[in-house]
Amino acid sequence: MRLTMIGSGYVGLVSGACFADFGHEVTCVDLSEAKIAALQDGQIPIFEPGLETLVSENAEAGRLRFTTDLAAAVADADVVFIAVGTPSRRGDGHADLSYVYAAAADIARAVTGFTVIVTKSTVPVGTGDEVERIMRDVNPDADVVVVSNPEFLREGAAIDDFKRPDRIVIGIEDERAREVMTEVYRPLYLNQAPLMFTGRRTAELTKYAGNAFLALKITFINEMADLCEKTGANVQDVARGIGLDKRIGPKFLNAGPGYGGSCFPKDTLALVKTGQDHDTPLRLVETTVSINDQRKRSMGRKVIAACGGDVRGKAIGILGLTFKPNTDDMRDAPSIAIIQTLRDAGAKVRAFDPEGMAMARGMIDGVEYCQDAYEVAQGAACVVLVTEWNAFRSLDLPRLKASMAVPTFVDLRNVYRAREMEAAGLTYVSIGRPA
Ligand code: UGA
Repeated sequence: MRLTMIGSGYVGLVSGACFADFGHEVTCVDLSEAKIAALQDGQIPIFEPGLETLVSENAEAGRLRFTTDLAAAVADADVVFIAVGTPSRRGDGHADLSYVYAAAADIARAVTGFTVIVTKSTVPVGTGDEVERIMRDVNPDADVVVVSNPEFLREGAAIDDFKRPDRIVIGIEDERAREVMTEVYRPLYLNQAPLMFTGRRTAELTKYAGNAFLALKITFINEMADLCEKTGANVQDVARGIGLDKRIGPKFLNAGPGYGGSCFPKDTLALVKTGQDHDTPLRLVETTVSINDQRKRSMGRKVIAACGGDVRGKAIGILGLTFKPNTDDMRDAPSIAIIQTLRDAGAKVRAFDPEGMAMARGMIDGVEYCQDAYEVAQGAACVVLVTEWNAFRSLDLPRLKASMAVPTFVDLRNVYRAREMEAAGLTYVSIGRPA
């Protein structure tokens, strides 16, 4: 099949490369000439394990192409995916749909013959109806059906998630789309990935409900961690104890500094707005959003408390800046609020991240960036593990301690065991575990 992706950002590029790998002919479109030129040259604008190889193999095989010529790419396509960004709208937190609607109008002008239009971008319930209305307004003769097919990819594991999904959700309002979408996903379908067909509005809402539920699960265990700290219980064992109940499940129960990234914060906020717009306040999600926002700064205060309540003039070392490992993404990363809180309290912050420092430099002021964890530790009154990169999982603890001014280690991801830290002479503070 001939597939066109409108938007060659994270979702468009990963999906495009994976579809090409299935044997489809894929064209990825983007407005940015610089981005397309780089992609044609084999340069990948994002850090995602395995993506560079997948793109180059499929480009060399002639199945994956990049262009800025939207009209030509759409005219040739059987299926056009809208995979543009839907950031939070400034001021009110609603999803900003201007890129989606602009893409819909551009596609309508260029489309020829029967074409399935698929929204892959995360869009609020009802957006598919508006996309369809815009397309019919712009080109009343367009023979199109509009489908919702949300993505459930995790950054850092996106290719695996695409090729081995738990499910594929497809929302259709016109039966002609069913056969086409089954064909698009045939390789996965043959691998027995459940293809779930439902209504378009239901598919749109399923995406938000999924992300909100995961955010809620994380926030629940984070609050349990706080209670564990006050009562001498161990949150990892609580998580294991409840996670073994199949109705609850073991995943997304790792307590930490709060969720970040380009999806959970933006999507929970947008879902809250949708609820309010429909006179159906989603109080659990509203509370989750506010608990998580407060948690990030409270992690900064936790570090200050570990330093005896005063960090003025002291060097604090930060290990990991990105919102999670295996990505260079700094969007809504807990490190931002933690560093801000420490700097507000007068600390001098030093930091290292294996992939995130380029993006961090443009977002966080007044940080001294280092080459590795050991440079971060030099003269530090405390080292804080914020993101659980593999590089921080097996640190040479005696070496780290030797260069610190005060050997305090705050582990916001519970990577280490208290016993090994204490054996290395470090004062160890973690999340929701007895000292
Ligand atoms: C998330 C979802 O997991 C994907 O299914 C979804 O497709 C994607 O959003 C999206 O909407 O595009 P992602 O944001 O890449 O994926 O990252 P996650 O692995 O879900 O982690 C999100 C945040 O939660 C991170 O800050 C992570 O550290 C935190 N987290 C996760 C925890 O604090 N504890 C956990 O147990 C799990």
